[in-house]
Amino acid sequence: MCGIVGYLGSKKTKDILLDGLQELEYRGYDSAGIAVLQNDDFSVYKAVGKLINLQEKASSFDPTGFAVGIGHTRWATHGKPTELNAHPHLGECSYVVHNGIIENYAVLKQTLQKNGAKFLSQTDTEVIVHLFEKELKSSASAFDAFTKTVSQLHGSFAILLVTKSEDKTIFFAKQGSPMIIGKDADSEKYFASSDTPLIGRCSEVIYLDDGDYGYVTPDEIAIFDKDSKKKTPYFSKLSTNKLSAQKSGFRFFMEKEIYEQSEVIVDTLTGRITDKEIHFEELDSRLFEGINEIKLCACGTSYHAALASSYLFERYAKIRVSVEIASEFRYKEPLLCKDTLFVVISQSGETADTLETLKMAKKAGLKTLVVCNVDNSSMVRLADASLLTRAGIEKGVASTKAFATQLVVLWMLSLYLAKIKSSLSSDEIARQISLLREVPGLLKIKEELHEKITRLSKRYLHGHGFFFIGRDVFYPLALEGALKLKEISYLHAEGYPSGEMKHGPIALADPELFTIALLPRHMLYEKNKSNVEELSARDSTICAISPVEFDKADDYVKTSDVKDYMLEFFEMMVIVQLLSMEIAIRLGNDVDMPRNLAKSVTVE
Ligand code: F6R
Repeated sequence: MCGIVGYLGSKKTKDILLDGLQELEYRGYDSAGIAVLQNDDFSVYKAVGKLINLQEKASSFDPTGFAVGIGHTRWATHGKPTELNAHPHLGECSYVVHNGIIENYAVLKQTLQKNGAKFLSQTDTEVIVHLFEKELKSSASAFDAFTKTVSQLHGSFAILLVTKSEDKTIFFAKQGSPMIIGKDADSEKYFASSDTPLIGRCSEVIYLDDGDYGYVTPDEIAIFDKDSKKKTPYFSKLSTNKLSAQKSGFRFFMEKEIYEQSEVIVDTLTGRITDKEIHFEELDSRLFEGINEIKLCACGTSYHAALASSYLFERYAKIRVSVEIASEFRYKEPLLCKDTLFVVISQSGETADTLETLKMAKKAGLKTLVVCNVDNSSMVRLADASLLTRAGIEKGVASTKAFATQLVVLWMLSLYLAKIKSSLSSDEIARQISLLREVPGLLKIKEELHEKITRLSKRYLHGHGFFFIGRDVFYPLALEGALKLKEISYLHAEGYPSGEMKHGPIALADPELFTIALLPRHMLYEKNKSNVEELSARDSTICAISPVEFDKADDYVKTSDVKDYMLEFFEMMVIVQLLSMEIAIRLGNDVDMPRNLAKSVTVE
């Protein structure tokens, strides 16, 4: 969950590295660092905290002419977020940056220390550079030493290493963490752990596979696979659209992304719906042959999308569905049956726990499908089939548009399957499709609504906790609302099924307990209402979100009078996203980079 960049060439090395890290800062901002090798000499800068600190530290550094550089932005796993633990890590004459975890680092470290290696940091990464330097002493070449080093590492990693004896080379290895090589119009070479730093600089990229390693010099890209066979580099075209990755006038990326939901859902739907049916070009309907159950597996927000969709799959496609949290699933020794379609849901396609469950399912011979936002991500490459959510780059750490698009894809998939299984009439499928078409319009945020939520937010800055409550698909939405609030406001919040409050949590009710009640008209309104009344009677402060005026509420956000609960779902989704964001802004928090979090969790 860190970010890595690299560059070999004669352009402005420092700017290229720092600009690249800026694009990746959302992946981790505990510390950042760069190492530049030029004329047999290293210049190294590291700083704790956000990138601005590194930019200031390196402000007078201005290398010109050919140089080789690597950079890293860190989300701490092993060792505190200190400068000593910041990458790049130094041996005697080499530097390394790494993303992922070296699982056998403790054993390697012990042996290296016995041989006299001096460790400066508490990180797992530092073993790589000491191991390399140990191997260098007895190897014919630096590449030989690097190959031997990589073969001894267990775990997941993306590594860049530079060493003085080969001052025109970057060595790389990829296993379980993403790494891309880019080439610009002058054939200069770049590295990055995702494509954003390369957009605008490189026209072509190589997406490395797990097990790949090798080296890049100004004249050569040498890639070897896990069996040490040399590969022919395969270049793909890189998009040039960087605009979507910028803030366009909004205060935060999260805000921009909440507003973008309307547009991106148009993209999600484009080419996939006719008046009567769902059409997924990427799917072969034979994927569902012999399938009697769907298992949905994901983490965090993606898990909430999975849970919400489980109601739709059972209701519309009449298929048995189970929903699993990936980090739990991977160790529960699950029974995997071949008549189960294993579906992973992931914004990034790189989340370690989810990726692992996908590998387990594949190993057990299950058919697999990924619903993902990032083409060419590890999950997309691994699964039998993939459906891209088309949300565009999501920069806010708290996921918003990725969630919305996941749910739209999963809703469409439930209808696609309903058609195959003839579990819904064609009229009902057509009706559902007309609802899908209404979603983008509903997600256009009216100024009055946002203003109202901003005003309201000032009453919710304290208290001893929030309960977001709802029933049916509004229960996963309540979970998601609570997660959004927790992530960016640091206030305690829980999502709960409305009907469960009386089985315990209602004991917490008092005026300082804030209940955000999702009260749709078209889904169990009366049942829900009585659950909220029970809380109101115990003096909990209630904020009701509903199309129906609710006189027991302290605050009320009115939603539109739409014709189906799924439309109510999307409207309420925006309201809980905006409410969380406005509360966090009032509390003075950095909404886009909340403390202790990172965008893509590529470690366990
Ligand atoms: C919360 C959030 C996380 C992610 C989770 C899974 O706002 O973004 O909970 O949903 O880390 O990430 P992906 O979807 O990339 O697998």
